[in-house]
Amino acid sequence: DLVENVLVERRGRVTLVTLNRPEALNALNLATMTEVVAAVRAADADPGVGAVVLTGSAKAFAAGADIKEMASQDHLQMYRADWFRGWEDLTRVRIPVIAAVSGYALGGGCELAMMCDLIIAAENAKFGQPEINLGVIPGMGGSQRLTRAVGKAKAMDLVLTGRMIDAAEAERSGLVSRVVPTESLLEEALAVAETIASKSKPVAMMAKEAVNTAFETGLAQGVVFERRLFHSLFGTPDQMEGMAAFQEKRPAEFNQG
Ligand code: HXC
Repeated sequence: DLVENVLVERRGRVTLVTLNRPEALNALNLATMTEVVAAVRAADADPGVGAVVLTGSAKAFAAGADIKEMASQDHLQMYRADWFRGWEDLTRVRIPVIAAVSGYALGGGCELAMMCDLIIAAENAKFGQPEINLGVIPGMGGSQRLTRAVGKAKAMDLVLTGRMIDAAEAERSGLVSRVVPTESLLEEALAVAETIASKSKPVAMMAKEAVNTAFETGLAQGVVFERRLFHSLFGTPDQMEGMAAFQEKRPAEFNQG
């Protein structure tokens, strides 16, 4: 039942994955996790796909992990199931993944958006880590990814007070790449994804890998990693094509496989 909690559509070279539990404001239960991860991994494995857009509904990207599903779990059940571990697979895909956020992105919803490579927010978007109001803390990477994204001051503020921020504050803080009118969110996000998917696919994958390495390593090592990747691109047809096309004043025709 791969279409119960999640809808998957192909739009040209982009896969659109839509969270589809409107009655629960897209609360992220385990079934939804499995379906989202499967859909994004399938897109990653498809040679015809160059980018993914992950979105929710107008009212909610996702209002968090499913509180009703979690409420009765005890410590050993959480530990044995390694609750939320499955989401990490989303961060291992190699093609770019864009979160298109309208409405609430709270708790696990904010954390899911932050697992994507970039976030495009509608003007009505609201971000927050309200777990403290439930007697817990973020559990899908929020305390780590939010701190890396916006710095200690804003991360402490959000994680300790549980307050929501609007799209403008999220953009000021560096959490989101762009804010767009609510009614054109999907169109704008798909256009960004299509732009990315029109580049050389392996080069876009390496660019993503290089940026992500900045979050995993020290500066000197990261700069060497980048330079090695850069050098390796001089063994690809796309480097020859891109630089030839520039000199011949024509659009480049990149390898999309
Ligand atoms: C399960 C949820 C849910 C959630 C909303 N719903 N959020 N169900 N888990 N996270 C359900 C509601 O119970 C309700 O169903 C329906 O969705 C509509 O929600 P309402 O509350 O009636 O809508 P509204 O009044 O517009 O308020 C919207 C809201 C509020 C402000 C977003 O729903 C809210 O505060 N939700 C919880 C936000 C949150 O705390 N998220 C963090 C979760 S913990 P019924 O059938 O009851 O009417 C998390 C971190 C994981 O994500 C780490 C460890 C916990």
